[in-house]
Parts: sequence; structure tokens; C-alpha cells
Amino acid sequence: MTPVDIYSLNGLPAPYWFIQLFKVLGFILHSVPMHLWLAGLPLALVLLLIGGGNGKTFARRLLKQMPVVMAFGINLGIVPLLFIQVAYYKVFYPATILMAWHWIGILVLVLPAYYLLYITSGLVDRGFKWRPAFSGAGASLLLIGAGLIFASAWSLMASPESWPELWRAKSLAAAATGLGTNWNPVVLLRFISICGLAILTVTFWVLFDAHFLYVPKKDSGSGRQQQQQISDFMENPYLSRSRKKELSKLRDRGKLTEEEELEALTYGFNDDDEAGAEGYPRWTLRFASVLVWFGVCITLGSLWLYYYKVIDGPESVTSVPEASMVNAPARFAAPSAAPERMIPVWIPPVTFTAVGLFAAVIILANLGKVGGKLFVALLGLCLAAALTFFAITRQIIQNEQIKNYLDVRSIPEQMQLSPLLVFLLVFLFGAGLIFWMVAAMAKTAKR
Ligand code: HEM
Repeated sequence: MTPVDIYSLNGLPAPYWFIQLFKVLGFILHSVPMHLWLAGLPLALVLLLIGGGNGKTFARRLLKQMPVVMAFGINLGIVPLLFIQVAYYKVFYPATILMAWHWIGILVLVLPAYYLLYITSGLVDRGFKWRPAFSGAGASLLLIGAGLIFASAWSLMASPESWPELWRAKSLAAAATGLGTNWNPVVLLRFISICGLAILTVTFWVLFDAHFLYVPKKDSGSGRQQQQQISDFMENPYLSRSRKKELSKLRDRGKLTEEEELEALTYGFNDDDEAGAEGYPRWTLRFASVLVWFGVCITLGSLWLYYYKVIDGPESVTSVPEASMVNAPARFAAPSAAPERMIPVWIPPVTFTAVGLFAAVIILANLGKVGGKLFVALLGLCLAAALTFFAITRQIIQNEQIKNYLDVRSIPEQMQLSPLLVFLLVFLFGAGLIFWMVAAMAKTAKR
């Protein structure tokens, strides 16, 4: 397979810096909701089943938010995809054609997952426990499958040297069958590093939700006291109307089990009480203080291995195999024997420092040195810094890995102003809309 001749490409319709900026920004924006369904969803399901009152409150809140989170995540994923298709299409299409069945499989996984999330959210709203746990677990497995395919596809796209062998092994009459796969430990390591960051994002979300979006129950007295004042689930203010209707129908037919009746009677009341008198926002700090260490250890461990052992290590993927370069023109000559460093020396330490600061802010909050919304804002800054440096490093690595085949920077620029302006307007409108929606939710909480 001959490497891509950049002179046969159409020019870049936007400046190189613009494409890199929005590809990285789009990936960061896609990452936040993606992290919530990757790590937050399974965590919420576990807490729904075995958590205390506050754990269940968090689980119910996140599961109810999930359909909206999914909508944001999918739409924001389109942003980097656009720029990949605009500037990296000569490596994107061959890679995704070689593994076409997996790539199409993403639709087969994501569509039912999306429906299952709606079903889960509805079931949680109606006070069920096991049914949303099953539907949510189904959604979670499908989404983890989709995430693994994404990790596999982006790493195949960045390793054109592996295509000829894949094509030879999985082609029919010289046509790729699309049955190629790209499963190897590096793909898993990439995925694990995303999972580590995902746990950090969930840690932030637990606190952000509790401080900005959570509406404490207005009535005085504990949930238990309030609950003692009602004797019928029809009087339960936390139960949705449709669930009440359904339950009363069951009762009329004599099919309502005792367990269902009790669950409907207590639904929503005891959430704040079971963990003691501390209340939900204070519980979230204790929860975040535990969760953060899982995130920090997985992120630092996997990124350290990926950066220093895989990318810039002794078995560096920079070295392109001789065989794949046999037919390459002189300008695509294989790199010299001494591998160059791919990642600028200072970037990984900065990423690691941002992750460390994230944990430090939580420690300070536990010591009572910082608190309230300022604490959550500081935490958000640290997370934003960690995700930004991670995304920049990822982009540098991607560009370096494909450089010998496709040097995007060298593609001549053929500016197309009108699509660029339309993109900017739609992007700003979308970002403004998301901001307005979250701000409206926060305002409701304040009232
Ligand atoms: C269906 C709509 C989605 C679109 C359009 C989309 C798009 C993208 C794009 C373009 C990237 C790479 C960004 C870059 O290299 O600059 C990416 C990365 C990623 N996406 Fe999505 N995504 C979608 C849904 C999902 C889902 C459902 C998951 C499930 C967990 C997911 C997980 C991931 C992961 C793990 C990565 C990073 C992979 C790696 O670099 O190893 N995405 N996504």
C-alpha cells in the first residue's frame, strides 16, 4: 500500500491551526459526557443496588440525567469527527474500511444503548430498582463495547504501517472485506487511560451536581418523619403520576406485591437520611474523596505506561517497519534508526501535575481550607487543565505517528470561508445552548 501523496489531496479548507484547535477542543468537549456514561453509569448502577440513601440519590440523579448527557456527548463527538474527515480523511477512511464491520457495529451498539438509557431513566423515575439496574447494565455494556471500538479505530488510523498486513489477511480478490481487527494491549491501555480520566470527571460531576444542580427538599424535618405522615403511596409527592396510576391499577387487580407497595411508599423520602444527618452535599465530598484515588491511580499509571513505555519507550511505535516502506517514494523514507521523542518533554509532567492538583483540591476541601462553589470551580479548572493537556498530547502523538505517511501541516491551504463561518456560528450557538440549559438547571436549584 503506497503512502498518501499529499500533493494529490484537496487543499485544507481552513488554516492548519484552526483544524487542530477545534479537533482538540471538540475531543475535550466530547470527553466530558463520554466519561459520564463510561464510568458514571456503571457506578450509578452499583450504588442504586447496594448504596445507602445518599448513594441512591446520586445514582437516581445521574441515571435520570443520562439521556441528556448522551445527547450532548454524541453531538459533541461530531465536532472532532468533522475535522478528522476534513484533514485526516486519507488515513481515516482506509483504517475504518479495513475494520468496517466493527466500525458499523458502533451504530448497532450505540442506538440500543441510547434507547436503554431512556428506559432506565423512566424506570428510575417510577421508583423501580432492579429493572433500571438491568436495562442500565445493558446500556453500559453496549457503551463500553462502543468505546473499545473507538479506541481500536483511532489507534489503527494512527498506525498506517499495520494496514498492508491487515489488508492482505482480510481481503477477497484484492478488495478489503472489512473484517480486519485491531485488538492489542496498546488499544486496551489507551482505553484504560480514558477510563481513569473518566473516573476523575465523575468525581467532579458528583460535586458539581450537588453544589449547582441539586435541589434540597424544602420541607423541614427528616425524610423519615415526613414519610411517617403518609400512609398511601398515592400521597407520595416524589412518585411520578404515571407510576402512581400504574401501581393503583395493579392494586385494583390485586396484583401489587408488598415489596412494590413499600418501595412506592418510601420512594424519595429516606435518601438524605440513611447516611446520617450530614445531608447529600456533604456526603458527595466524602464519596469524591474515595473515588478520586481510583481515578488518580488509573490515570497516572496508564498514561505513564503509554507515554514512556509505548510511545517514547524502547519499543517505540515511531519506528516504521521496513517492509511497509518498500514502495515508498523518497520523501516518505523510513525514520532514522535513532527514534526521536514524540511527545514534548514538558507536556506529560504538566498533565500529571494537573491530575495531582485535582486530588490536592479535594484534600484541601476535606481539611476545611476551601469549600462551597469556589471549591467546585477550582476542581473544574484542574480537570479542564488535565483534559486539555491530555487532548493536546494525544493530538501531537497522532500527528507524529502518521507524519511519514500524511503530513497534514504540509497540505496546501485552500480557504473556504463560507462553510467555516457556518461551522463557527453553529458551534457558538450549540455551546451557548448547552451553557443556557445548565445555567437554567442551576437557577432552578437555587430557587
Ligand atoms: C456516536 C457518536 C460519537 C461520535 C461521533 C464520536 C466521535 C469521536 C471522535 C471523533 C473521537 C476522536 C477524537 C480525536 O481523535 O480528535 C472520539 C474518541 C473517543 N470516543 Fe467517541 N464518539 C461517539 C460516541 C462515543 C461513544 C458512545 C463512546 C463510548 C464510550 C465513545 C468513546 C470514545 C473514546 C473512548 C474515545 C477515545 C479513543 C482513543 O483515543 O483511544 N464515543 N470519539
